[in-house]
Amino acid sequence: MLHDSQPTELKKKIYTQSLPEHVAIIMDGNGRWAQERRKPRVWGHKKGVESVRAVVKTAGEVGIKYLTLYAFSEENWGRPQSEVSGIMTLLDTFVVRERKELYENNVRLKTIGRIEKLPAKTRKLVQETTEYLKDNDGLTLTIALSYGGRTEISAACRMIAEKVKNHEINVDQIDSELFGQHLSTGSIPDPDLLIRTSGEQRISNFLLWQIAYSELWFSTVYWPDFRREHFLDAIQSYKNRKRRFGLVESVQAPI
Ligand code: FPP
Repeated sequence: MLHDSQPTELKKKIYTQSLPEHVAIIMDGNGRWAQERRKPRVWGHKKGVESVRAVVKTAGEVGIKYLTLYAFSEENWGRPQSEVSGIMTLLDTFVVRERKELYENNVRLKTIGRIEKLPAKTRKLVQETTEYLKDNDGLTLTIALSYGGRTEISAACRMIAEKVKNHEINVDQIDSELFGQHLSTGSIPDPDLLIRTSGEQRISNFLLWQIAYSELWFSTVYWPDFRREHFLDAIQSYKNRKRRFGLVESVQAPI
C-alpha cells in the first residue's frame, strides 16, 4: 500500500502500469455515519464532500483519466425535503468553492442524469462550473445527478428508435457500440473499476450498461471516512487483478 509520505513522482511511477482509466464510485454510508454520531443525515453528506475532495485530488495525482461519482439518484428525490435541499446546497457550494482548485488541477467537469430536474440555482451553478473547466484535459470528473441507469437505457432506446423511424440508421446497424454511443457516457470509456463504500454490495441502478466488465471493489468504510489511502487500496487491488473479458488468459484482452 502507498502512503501519503511517498512523493507524488514515485506514486506516478508505481501507477503507470495497469492503472484504471475510469473509476466510478457509489458513495454510500453518509446517513449511517451521521446517525451513529447522533447528527442529522445532512451532516454525513457534508462530511462526504471532504471525501469527494480527497478522492478527486488523489485521482488526478495518480493519473486517472475519468472519475464518475454517484451523487444523487433518481430515487433520492423521495428522501425528506430537508435532506434533498441539503444535498443540493452542498452541490452548489462545491461547484462554486472548488471551481478554482479544480481549474488549477486541470479537472474537467461533466454531469450525467436528468439535470433538468435539479433546482434552477443548482443547475445554473453546475453549468457555469462545467463551462469554466471545459478546456481542461486532465481528469474528467463526472457527477451523476438525478441519475438512473434504467432511465438512461430507455432514453437511448428511444433515441435509436427515432433514428430508425427517420431512416437515419437501419435496424442492422444497432449493436453494442452504437448503443453505448447513445448513453450519456457516450464520449467516455466504460469504468474499469467500480467502488462502493459502506459495506453494501449492490449496484443501485448505477451505470448498468457501462459496468458490464468493470472490476468491483466493496469497502466497508462509510463514505465520510473514505480517504486517499482507501482509494489507493482499491487502485492497488485493481492492479493485481486479471481481466479476461470472457477470454482465456493467453489471449490478449480487447482493450
Ligand atoms: C449516499 O449515502 C449518499 C448520497 C445519496 C449523497 C451523496 C452526496 C454527497 C457526498 C454530497 C455532494 C456531492 C458532491 C459530488 C459534491 P446515504 O445517504 O444513502 O447513506 P446511508 O445508506 O447510510 O443512509
